[in-house]
Amino acid sequence: MSASQVAVHALARTVESPARGRGALVYSVSLFTLAAAAIHLAAAPEHLAEYVLYGYFFVGLGLAQAALAVALIAQPSRRLFVGSAIGTLLVIALWTASRTTGLPIAPVPWRPEAVGFPDVTATVLEGVSYVFFLLLLRKPEPRRRGHFRVALATTPSLLISALAGFLGTGAALSPMAPAFSAAPATASSISVASLVAPAGGEPVKAFTLTARATTVGGQPAWTYDGTVPGPELHVTQGDRVRVTLVNRLPAASSIHWHGIVLPNAEDGVAGLTQNAVPPGASFTYEFVARDAGTYWYHSHQDTSHQLAAGLFGALIVEPKGGAPAIDRDYSLLIHYQPGYRPGYGTLLVNGSRDLHLAANPGETVRLRLIDAIEATGMGADGQVEEPVLLGAPYAIAALDGHDLNQPQQLGPERIFLGMGQRADLVFKMPASGSVRLTGLKSSQPLLPWDPKQSTSSVTIGEGPAPAALDIAKLPRFDLTSYGLPAADRLLEASRFDVDKRIDLTGGGPAFRNGSFGFADTINHAAAPNIAPIRVRSGDLVRLRVVNHSQQSHPIHIHGHVFTVLARNGQPLSGSPVHLDAILVGPGESWDVGFVADNPGIWMLHCHVLNHAAGGMSMTVNYDGYSTPFTMGSQSGNEPE
Ligand code: C2O
Ligand code: CU
Repeated sequence: MSASQVAVHALARTVESPARGRGALVYSVSLFTLAAAAIHLAAAPEHLAEYVLYGYFFVGLGLAQAALAVALIAQPSRRLFVGSAIGTLLVIALWTASRTTGLPIAPVPWRPEAVGFPDVTATVLEGVSYVFFLLLLRKPEPRRRGHFRVALATTPSLLISALAGFLGTGAALSPMAPAFSAAPATASSISVASLVAPAGGEPVKAFTLTARATTVGGQPAWTYDGTVPGPELHVTQGDRVRVTLVNRLPAASSIHWHGIVLPNAEDGVAGLTQNAVPPGASFTYEFVARDAGTYWYHSHQDTSHQLAAGLFGALIVEPKGGAPAIDRDYSLLIHYQPGYRPGYGTLLVNGSRDLHLAANPGETVRLRLIDAIEATGMGADGQVEEPVLLGAPYAIAALDGHDLNQPQQLGPERIFLGMGQRADLVFKMPASGSVRLTGLKSSQPLLPWDPKQSTSSVTIGEGPAPAALDIAKLPRFDLTSYGLPAADRLLEASRFDVDKRIDLTGGGPAFRNGSFGFADTINHAAAPNIAPIRVRSGDLVRLRVVNHSQQSHPIHIHGHVFTVLARNGQPLSGSPVHLDAILVGPGESWDVGFVADNPGIWMLHCHVLNHAAGGMSMTVNYDGYSTPFTMGSQSGNEPE
C-alpha cells in the first residue's frame, strides 16, 4: 500500500469508528507530529543546498513523522506509543546536541548550529508530543466518546498545531539568503577590495582597538579596550589614521567609521566592503581624515546587537591649523547601558547617568553630542533624543560634524537627534552657576515588565543648577532656518543626473530571514531585495525621502555627505546643512543631494539598527564596481 492509500484508509476508519479507543489525545499528538513533519520538510531544501546529508536527514525525518502521524490514528497501540516516545526524545536530543556541542557529522564538525525560529517551533511541538505519548501510556483513553466531544477536545490542539505549522513552515521556506552579493562581479568591474587609501606621506596616527567581552556596570558587555564607550580617538584633519581592530570577541566583527568620507575598502561593512573579522584575527583600517568634525565608530557586523552590546566610540577630527578658541572640548555619547536583555535599559551619557564636567566661569565649552542609542528587546526602536541646554545661550556650531554658517545664539530649545546623528554646541560658561544638558530619556516602556523610563543629564561647571523648565513646551530647533545662507554646489545645481525617490513604506509582520517577525520596508521591499541606487562617478544625485510610516527614521549614507535641499518641499532659508543622516519624521519628506565622487558600493540605511535589521537597508552602487564579499547565513557576514 502506498503512503497516500494508508492515509485514506486511516481517515476512513477513524471517521467510521471513533470508539476504537482513540480520543482527543491521539488526534492531538498526531496533529503535532504532522506539524513538525511539515516544518522539517519545508526546511529540507535549504539544508540540501547547505549540506546534502542534512538535507536527506530532514526529508527522512519529515516523511517518518508524517507516516507516524497517520499510523497513530490508523493503528494506535502501546507499542507504537513507546516507540514514538523514544524516537521523539532522540530527535530532541539530537537537536539539543546540534545547538550546543555541535555534531560530528556536519558541514563543520562540532560547531554548534544557530538556533532558529523553525527548529525551535518543531522542537516545542516534539516536546509536547513526547508528553502526550507518556500520557497515552499511563492511561488508556476512555472508550465510546461521541464524535462531537472528541472533536471539541481536539480543537485546541488543531489550532495550535495549525498555527505552529504555518509559522514554522513559513519561516523555513523563507530562509536568509545564504550568500548575497550587493554588486556581483562582471567581466570589467573593479572590485571594491581595491579601493584602499593610496599611499602618502601624511602624519600617521595609529591606534589599536581590542574588542572583547567583559562586564561593565555589572552587565555583560562587548567593548573596545574594556570600556563603554570605547576610547575616544582624536586626530587632526589631514592625518593618516591607522586603526587595528584585534578581535577577541566570541563572534566575528568589524569597525565602521560613521560619517567619515574614506575609500570604500576601509568602510568596515561586513559582507559589502570586507569579510567580518573572525575571533582571534585582526584587521587594519587606514584612511586620511579629510573633514574636521565629530564622528564616531562602531561595529558593522550584526550591528543592532554588537552596537547595543557596547561596541562604539567617538572619533574627533580637529581642524588643521588649530581649533577655534575652545577651552573645554567634550564628546558626549548618548547610549543605553549595554547588555543583552529584554526591555530598554538605562540611558547613559559616556557610561554615566549623571555626568559632571569641569569648566570655569567665562570659559568657552564645546559639547559634541553623539546619539548612539540602540537598545535590544521589544519595541526598542527609534527613540528620538531631544537634548536641551539650560543655563547659557549657545550656538549649534555643527551638525553631523559639518560646520554651520554663522550660527546664531539660541535659548533653550529641543534639539532633535536621531540615532547616529551629532550636534556640536558651543557656549560660554556664565559668571556663576552651572550649565545643564537635560531632556535625555529612554523609550517609553511598552510592556508591563519593561524597566521604567530612565533619564540622564550632564552638568557642566560648579554652582547652582539653572532653573528647570517644562521641556515639553520648549520650541524645537529648526535646522532649515538657522544660520546664514552660503554658496553650495548642490544648492545651486539646476539639474541632477540621478533623481530618485526613497519611500519609507513602514512595515508589518512577515516571514523573513528564516523567522517570523516585523519587517521594515523601503519602496515596499526589505533588504536584500531593495533595488540599489545606481550612480556613475561624477553624478549629481538627488533623493527625495518620504516617510509613510508612524516612526522617525534617521536615514544614513556611507562615504558621502548629504546637502539638505528641502524639507516638506520647503527650501532652506538659513545656513547650508550637511548631514550623513537625515531624521525623517512621520509624514515628512526630505530632499537631499550629494555628489557621487567616491566610487564603490555604499550602504544607505535607517540608523535605528532594529529597523535596518528588519529590512530598511539598501546600497548606492557605482557603475563598474563590484564587491567580492557576500552577506547571509553561509557567508559569515551580517552587516545589520
Ligand atoms: Cu553608523 Cu551603516 O552606520
Ligand atoms: Cu527606521
